[in-house]
Order: sequence, then structure tokens, then C-alpha cells
Amino acid sequence: MSNDGVNAGRRRFLVAATSVVGAAGAVGAAVPFVGSWFPSAKAKAAGAAVKVNVGKIEPGQQMIAEWRGQPVFIVRRTEEILGNLVKVEGGLADPESKASTQPTYVDPEVRSIKPEILVLVGICTHLGCSPSFRPEVAPVDLGAEWVGGYFCPCHGSRYDLAGRVYKSQPAPLNLPVPPHSYESDDVIVIGVDQEKA
Ligand code: FES
Repeated sequence: MSNDGVNAGRRRFLVAATSVVGAAGAVGAAVPFVGSWFPSAKAKAAGAAVKVNVGKIEPGQQMIAEWRGQPVFIVRRTEEILGNLVKVEGGLADPESKASTQPTYVDPEVRSIKPEILVLVGICTHLGCSPSFRPEVAPVDLGAEWVGGYFCPCHGSRYDLAGRVYKSQPAPLNLPVPPHSYESDDVIVIGVDQEKA
């Protein structure tokens, strides 16, 4: 019976996530000028910056952008999620990201410029799979202690919702935070550092 609840919740999440992506696409289509700014596929692969409107991401949801051919996870974190980041610190391998990749202008623990908007390169630091966004609390498959995070389907590495890896996982380091900056309240530029923006 509890499985039904979890699956229903997962379905709702998937529908919601799809609608966020759909909304982002619709915004791009409705504003051709913004669309025309986006670099060509060739330029993107070579490392050009990518602008993303994060304004439509609902609290607790993720959208996925692409930068340098890699997935970039962007999550709008809630107060509850931010509170849980403190609670899980004792179980993390590198809670202040001393050994992990992130820009110096990003908070070392929350790992973002604005606390609510998390931006991560979505590539597992073990062998390069893309971890799954699992924001649910205590889902059956991840256990009662799970407060939301990322789970890598390849070898089971677990990360919190700041991309920080738990202790004793196959992955050695936190998910990288890419260089990024804010062009306006809702538009981030992935690939351009905040201090140079
Ligand atoms: S690639 Fe993610 S745990 Fe191995």
C-alpha cells in the first residue's frame, strides 16, 4: 500500500518536472530576442556560456540545463531543504567542499550564490553517471533517514541537496558547482563567474 503512495508521489513529481521544462521552453519561444542570444550547438559544446531563466522552477523542483555537453541541475530549495542541509552535515565526506570543485564566491556549505537556487554539474564524481534527483523524504527504496538528495543509479552514491556526497560512498567528491552568475533576479548565466558578470 505504501508503495502506491510513493509511486503516485513520483508520478506527480515527474509530471511537475516535465511541466517546468515545458514552461521554460515556452518562455524561450515567446521571446525570440532571448532565444536568439543562445549560442549555437557548436558554440555550446565548445564551452560558451548558457543563459537560463530559473523563475519558473517551483519550490522543491529541479530543471536541467545543458552546458559544455553536461547536464546542469538547477533546484529551487525550500526552507525545509535548507534546514536539512545542516542536519545531515555529520554524515558527509566533505561538508565544506574543501576538496571539491566550486567557485570561491559560492557559500562553502550551502554551495550557492542565493541560498534557494542550487546549481550543480549533474555528473557523479565516481565514474560519471548522472545522479537522480530524489527530493522525497524517507522513500521506501532509500530508507527512513533520507531527507532528499541525489542518488546515483550506477553504484549507489548518495548526495545531499547541496550536491555534497555522504561518507563511505563510491563517489569521492561533491558534485561540482559550475561557474555561474546572475544577470537578473531570474536569469542565471552558466559559464560566467559572478565576479566577472
Ligand atoms: S558513477 Fe555514480 S556511483 Fe558510480
